[in-house]
Amino acid sequence: MSALFHPLIDRFQRRITYLRLSVTDRCDLRCSYCIPKGFKGFEEPAHWLTFDEIERVVGLFAQLGVSRVRLTGGEPLLRRNLPDLARRLSALPGLADLSLSTNATQLAHHAAALRSAGVNRLNISLDSLSAERVAQISGRDSLPSVLAGLDAADKAGFQRIKINMVAMRGVNEADILPMAEFCLARGYTLRLIEAMPMGETGRNTDYLDLGPIREQLAARFDLRPQALELDGGPARYWSTADGRGQIGFITPISQHFCATCNRVRLSVDGTLYLCLGQEEKLELRPMLRGGADDATLIAALRDAIELKPERHTFVEQPEKIVRFMSLTGG
Ligand code: GTP
Ligand code: 5AD
Ligand code: SF4
Repeated sequence: MSALFHPLIDRFQRRITYLRLSVTDRCDLRCSYCIPKGFKGFEEPAHWLTFDEIERVVGLFAQLGVSRVRLTGGEPLLRRNLPDLARRLSALPGLADLSLSTNATQLAHHAAALRSAGVNRLNISLDSLSAERVAQISGRDSLPSVLAGLDAADKAGFQRIKINMVAMRGVNEADILPMAEFCLARGYTLRLIEAMPMGETGRNTDYLDLGPIREQLAARFDLRPQALELDGGPARYWSTADGRGQIGFITPISQHFCATCNRVRLSVDGTLYLCLGQEEKLELRPMLRGGADDATLIAALRDAIELKPERHTFVEQPEKIVRFMSLTGG
């Protein structure tokens, strides 16, 4: 379906087609690179965009050519009645792809409902297959519930599940190979991620340069680089020569991918962030609650896209971003 308005194109000729929508900044885990232990500064519920407000904003984005929405958090499954929201969003004209990023601790209870509500893809965070290490990284003995969530996702019929693993120097390097074996055997795409210096927690995490890791995995699994994905996602994929599967590498630090960035993010309080690693933003909540009509909102969205920065500066200015991932939307 063609957009009713001119599509969103930024100053660097990037077309914005992908909205990451954080439905909560809270999480039941405390991954060492994300929410600080003891953090108390979560958004108050009165500031959370309601499902009506979210549906309205996403509907406007869809009219501007955004065809993909990803539900994120914090942990999105902590937001009550998420499948109801998914059902409303997946019914919007122009939305072709509704996906979810989750830590999967509660997925066993929700996988089937999400699938029938129109969620068509799942990305699941898991940093190790060792229960001990998962507990050490995430602050809770969460591996059994995550594995149950994965089983439920398979059973509900989700295909092409991606597993996001933040690779950390000196923490879970030894877990990469077992994770790759597990994912290939189960038909999941493992994606290794370089930790980003978001907030103090992110900055205190030693990222692992994925260049050498990719070489090791390429030799071990006979991997070949895949042609660049046209959809401008952050991962670069390598496939096994026998077609058994693929592994993705998300390298914001060693090799950034901002030139093909296609996305913006809406946080739970209605702030539109133009870049994960910069401060440019538009506060939509006051407009939504102040009676702005659709034309005014669309004009504001267009103006905001003009502010989208060329790239993040995680390497040059690692101290710049004080909000950790769960506040922006992971
Ligand atoms: P697909 O639609 O399946 O490609 O999903 P995705 O990779 O865009 O989403 P996901 O939530 O799985 O993101 C995985 C990780 O990629 C995030 O946790 C971030 O670490 C990283 N990432 C996603 N988007 C961006 C971005 O715009 N900039 C940077 N630097 N990293 C990003
Ligand atoms: N750097 C990279 N990825 C991060 N995530 C959270 N914090 C960071 C960080 N500092 C990732 C998680 C998950 C998603 C929600 O965000 O691993 O995949
Ligand atoms: Fe929760 Fe994801 Fe942050 Fe871990 S990385 S604390 S699972 S939001």
